[in-house]
Amino acid sequence: MEIIHISAECYPVAKVGGLGDVVGALPKYQQEKGHIAKVLMPFYKRPFMAENEFELVHEGGMWIGNDWRHFDVIKEKNNKLGFDLYILEIPGLLHQENVYGEWNDSERFTAFQIAALDWLNSWQHKPDIIHCHDHQTGLIPFMMTQCFKYASLKNIPSVFTIHNAQYQGQMGWDKMYWLPSFDNWKTGMIDWNHHINPMASAIKNAWHVTTVSPGYLQELMGSANGLEPLFRQEAGKCSGILNGIDTAVWNPSTDDMITAHYNLKNFVSGKRKNKQTLCDIFHLDAQKPLFSFIGRLVDDKGADLLPEAILRAINETNHHASFLVLGSGRGEIEGALEQIKPHLAGEYNSFIGYNERLSHLIYAGSDFLLMPSRVEPCGLNQLYSLKYGTMPIVRGVGGLRDTVIDFGDPGGYGIRFVQPSIEDICHSINRGVALYQDVKKLNDLRRQMMKLDFSWDTSAQQYIDLYKTLK
Ligand code: ADP
Ligand code: GLC
Repeated sequence: MEIIHISAECYPVAKVGGLGDVVGALPKYQQEKGHIAKVLMPFYKRPFMAENEFELVHEGGMWIGNDWRHFDVIKEKNNKLGFDLYILEIPGLLHQENVYGEWNDSERFTAFQIAALDWLNSWQHKPDIIHCHDHQTGLIPFMMTQCFKYASLKNIPSVFTIHNAQYQGQMGWDKMYWLPSFDNWKTGMIDWNHHINPMASAIKNAWHVTTVSPGYLQELMGSANGLEPLFRQEAGKCSGILNGIDTAVWNPSTDDMITAHYNLKNFVSGKRKNKQTLCDIFHLDAQKPLFSFIGRLVDDKGADLLPEAILRAINETNHHASFLVLGSGRGEIEGALEQIKPHLAGEYNSFIGYNERLSHLIYAGSDFLLMPSRVEPCGLNQLYSLKYGTMPIVRGVGGLRDTVIDFGDPGGYGIRFVQPSIEDICHSINRGVALYQDVKKLNDLRRQMMKLDFSWDTSAQQYIDLYKTLK
């Protein structure tokens, strides 16, 4: 089968969060299963682009509203990622460093989708499946079936994967003139709440919709940032497929970004060495249990709760725990995390920013990983931390509830709490501190975590099985 994934992110080219990890890994595992999987993504001015060789495979031009835009599709020449990687460049629109957050994101991603389909339209043969990811590609299933110029793509099954339904790419109807022409009476197929809504449009028009965990799909029926009725209406064509982890990148026995490699046999000393490096860098006491957080500093991740929870937990545990935060995001949260630093020197530290290498060291060197998410479609951090023998402390929501069982329950290996509240977080930290004293039990649990299999193998197959039902 030939599958083309279309996405705004793909690791290691450009990654903001888990979407990048997934699109950088899933096609590789599909290739390993004997299929042809390709990725098409927008151009960003990133080191990967300068450090690798590309060849021009297509040149095109299109109208986006009243502007004529030239575009190029270039292909990475040396199969660096284990699959064919195509990059779409649109001078003047897709040329910046940032993936998101430009003033004209709506226009950038709409143009990306139109150019993507123009390119696919020009292929002699056609792919078997067009697999779109998140709202930046949400208009594609509609345009493929309804825009006159894409008649040749009409019968190709489209799959749309929702990594996060909080972000929907909504824009005003005044932007309709950007889109290639279609029957005007079909506007309802891209409308939600009197706006063009790419996420809603994908749910309406894709042949099949997946979410990145089964639990998240159930939650969307009752809480989907306004799209709940749509999910209930389209439930019949939706399913949840849990993300996996790329063990070629996330594996403590081979990871080049950590201080000491370790495996099931020597994880005690291996983790200790990584922890020492971390504690040296951040001036923390390596004797105390280390609780870390990695992620986007946004309310959905519960990051706004961290400053107070950390302050309170340090007092409640009688200064028997250390804390480390890596992340960037909302200004107020970044500010609050900086503000508490002088009061908690030696017990808490943070790195405000994005740092891939540091994230690996934190997964390896921490004892516990905090995830107090309000919304978590899947979550990869807890899966990485399990692989590195670091106990996840999670709020039981979405993919976190699907993947982490509390160690107090049969077969459990993590810590799970119910409310995204300071009280629940502190209570869980206290449980962690108590567990840390019971060295044998904690090490048994770590062994159990590291043995869990959340690799892509099973999930990649589930996608293939799904595609087959659509052919
Ligand atoms: P989301 O996609 O919602 O951000 P996930 O848990 O799926 O959440 O994935 C987050 C990914 O981004 C993980 O690979 C995590 O290690 C990484 N990450 C998040 N913030 C940072 C950061 N500041 N520095 C390095 N890596 C980060
Ligand atoms: C999204 C979600 C996250 C998920 C990731 C990859 O960004 O917020 O929970 O793990 O996509 O699917």
